Amino acid sequence: MLDAVLTKIHDESRQGEAYAPQAPDSKEYKKKFYIESYGCQMNFSDSEIVASILNGSGYGATRNFEEADLIFLNTCSVREKAEQTVRKRLTEFRKLKESRPALLVGVLGCMAERLKSKFLEQEQLVDIVVGPDAYRSLPGLIVDAESGQKAVNVLLSREETYADISPVRLNSNGVTAFVSIMRGCNNMCTFCVVPFTRGRERSRDAESIIHECTDLFERGYREVTLLGQNVDSYYYTPEGDSGPGSSVQTVTFARLLEMVAVISPLLRVRFSTSHPKDITDDVLHVMAKYNNICKYIHLPVQSGSTRILQLMNRTYTREWYKAKVDRIREIIPDCGLSSDVIAGFCTETEEDHQDTLSMMAYSGYDLSYMFFYSERPGTLAQRRYADDVPEPVKKRRLSEIVELQNRLSRESNERDLGKIFEVLIEGNSKRSDQDWMGRNSQNKVIVFPKNEQLLKKGDYVRVKVNDCTQATLLGEIV
Ligand code: SAM
Ligand code: SF4
Ligand code: F3S
Repeated sequence: MLDAVLTKIHDESRQGEAYAPQAPDSKEYKKKFYIESYGCQMNFSDSEIVASILNGSGYGATRNFEEADLIFLNTCSVREKAEQTVRKRLTEFRKLKESRPALLVGVLGCMAERLKSKFLEQEQLVDIVVGPDAYRSLPGLIVDAESGQKAVNVLLSREETYADISPVRLNSNGVTAFVSIMRGCNNMCTFCVVPFTRGRERSRDAESIIHECTDLFERGYREVTLLGQNVDSYYYTPEGDSGPGSSVQTVTFARLLEMVAVISPLLRVRFSTSHPKDITDDVLHVMAKYNNICKYIHLPVQSGSTRILQLMNRTYTREWYKAKVDRIREIIPDCGLSSDVIAGFCTETEEDHQDTLSMMAYSGYDLSYMFFYSERPGTLAQRRYADDVPEPVKKRRLSEIVELQNRLSRESNERDLGKIFEVLIEGNSKRSDQDWMGRNSQNKVIVFPKNEQLLKKGDYVRVKVNDCTQATLLGEIV
């Protein structure tokens, strides 16, 4: 994950990863689809829902877009750069279509939601446009597009959670999986487009989450990451909850974590993302209580200046954030911590920037995702404030933030030298099939030589750290 810091400085979009489910032989299917995903983990998780819906309607996945009848891009709008990348890719597919007129190209996800039918009508770049809450209508829209009709559905929903859909695990290592527990966001951070592209927050039925996690465990998976834009506000009231004393009770995030943790001590549980204003002591105590809930919190700070945090509508101050970090360290002393940081938000001064740097040093993040501010149309910041920090200043501040984070990451890894961790093996290391790659509870990547022991993916092993780089711990099995 630390590798990602260096490559994700300006944009967290992953560069067009092609997805092919480990699905039944695609010859069984009438047509083939290819899907490329951009943006956050939730979007990647959504592509697995889309694949499931398409499989159910007789479409099989392919890793090779050249043999596909349908090409989908599941897109991200969070920064301008993410949208530019998608546009470039769509232009390439447009060219492909000239030589293959029957090919259909669809845009899914946040950019579809933000630009709506503009893609179809003004730019004529695509045939199908579907927003994040409308994936169930995809099979019908494909039929419409095949007969030359406009195929657009960008309706947002207050209820849709796709709770009943079993995602097709795409590009899976068979060990770790994402599980969406909620959708949308109600927070209205002023810089952020997500509330507009993903709609109102809603929590998924707890029982369906437990069912999905249990099923993954039974199929050999050993780690689930519970996903939501703000997991701490997860709140599900089952039908029949009649208040205090009722046998059916509302499920909070702390309760949900516990319910997933007791599925098996061999199933690791992670979650993302936590909002500093919402993470509770209850959650921290549940994390401390169960060995299999990973000791790692992604707690985006965005800025270290109280004035900027107010303009961002983050609803916490510098002092509040510091107190949260203290509380985490008190209840879970060995907890890994990571963050998102934005450089050069509207009106940011050098002093505000210094506050961000000192906040990062105070928190001692193991990892950060770092960005310079990118104004997004329609957001509160775009309507209220001038994007007035010049680009060279934004970039210089960002590079100082990156430099500091690199030092913090290196120091954090150096503190682990000589320690022994329980590691879940995820597969071969990228560099050599003579080495295993896995993670410790704190989410740090550890690479270590395979020895004679008969180990396999999904096994737990104790590893002693002997050496490190800024991004990776290097060790040996003990
Ligand atoms: N819900 C999560 C949270 O509250 O942190 C993640 C939201 S967003 C998908 C991921 C990160 O993108 C944010 O934490 C923020 O740092 C960054 N981001 C969002 N809007 C941005 C913008 N307009 N410019 C630069 N970075 C932005
Ligand atoms: Fe965006 Fe804020 Fe919601 Fe995160 S919490 S998705 S940054 S509005
Ligand atoms: Fe991007 Fe949408 Fe995720 S804007 S970061 S894909 S919620």
